[in-house]
Amino acid sequence: MTMNTPDFSQTHREGTGELPAGRPLQTDFGPGLDYPRLGSVTFRRGTLTDNQERTWRDHWPHLGRDLGDEVVDMTEWFGREAPTIVEIGSGTGTSTAAMAPVEPDHNIVAVEIYRPGLAKLLGACVREDITNVRMIKGDGVEVLQRMIAPGSLDGVRIFFPDPWPKARHHKRRIIQSGPLHLIASRLRPGGILHVATDHAEYAEWITELVDVEPELEYLGWPADVPVLTDRQVVTKFEAKGIDKDHTITEYLWRRR
Ligand SMILES: C[S@@+](CC[C@H](N)C(=O)[O-])C[C@H]1O[C@@H](n2cnc3c(N)ncnc32)[C@H](O)[C@@H]1O
Repeated sequence: MTMNTPDFSQTHREGTGELPAGRPLQTDFGPGLDYPRLGSVTFRRGTLTDNQERTWRDHWPHLGRDLGDEVVDMTEWFGREAPTIVEIGSGTGTSTAAMAPVEPDHNIVAVEIYRPGLAKLLGACVREDITNVRMIKGDGVEVLQRMIAPGSLDGVRIFFPDPWPKARHHKRRIIQSGPLHLIASRLRPGGILHVATDHAEYAEWITELVDVEPELEYLGWPADVPVLTDRQVVTKFEAKGIDKDHTITEYLWRRR
């Protein structure tokens, strides 16, 4: 089954009058380019060890998928019906693998563009017999748009997204009006978006955007949504931020 590309252009023009002056709307980025796309970014290639290649060959076909146009049937893929959470930018998956056993009643889909990171997570899932994690290799925005059914997710997590600190790269930031609208469309009513950053200037940027998407009710932090607020595990990049005395800022939204 393929999905039509939703038309976000009108939605962003309406209902987002609160944007700070000078901030481009997603629709200002170029004709038909509604959100940042990393497809042309050719950094961090990385290779796998022989062992990782073997694990990839044996287990990726059932635990992983590449970006494609087929909407994923989560019940079939996980072999059960359970609330599903998508984590965008799982990195090496250290915290994903540590968190998944603490939330065994949830299906976790880790989305990452960095294959060696996915290979590490895949290895951990196989070694530690973690059964509630699946992986998709691709740009999180594209994955949400093309592979995730509207209104189907209980949660979306974006922990320590790349801050893209240079002004000319700000348009690559994943937290902005287009992706927020797309995320809202993939969450079921009541579903939670959880974002964390240790980057002060990115935190300011996100703070300016907390009310930009009409379908997302900003809950602040902390809020009483136990499964998603109780992270319990420090992520790899969070630990690096803490080492540098960075303040960790977290955000929660609920789909109206
Ligand atoms: C700073 S790291 C954080 C990794 C992990 N969440 C942590 O806290 O340790 C950001 C990760 O997001 C991935 N990433 C960046 N943009 C992405 C996108 N559009 N879709 C999927 N992954 C993305 C990068 O490859 C990188 O692994």
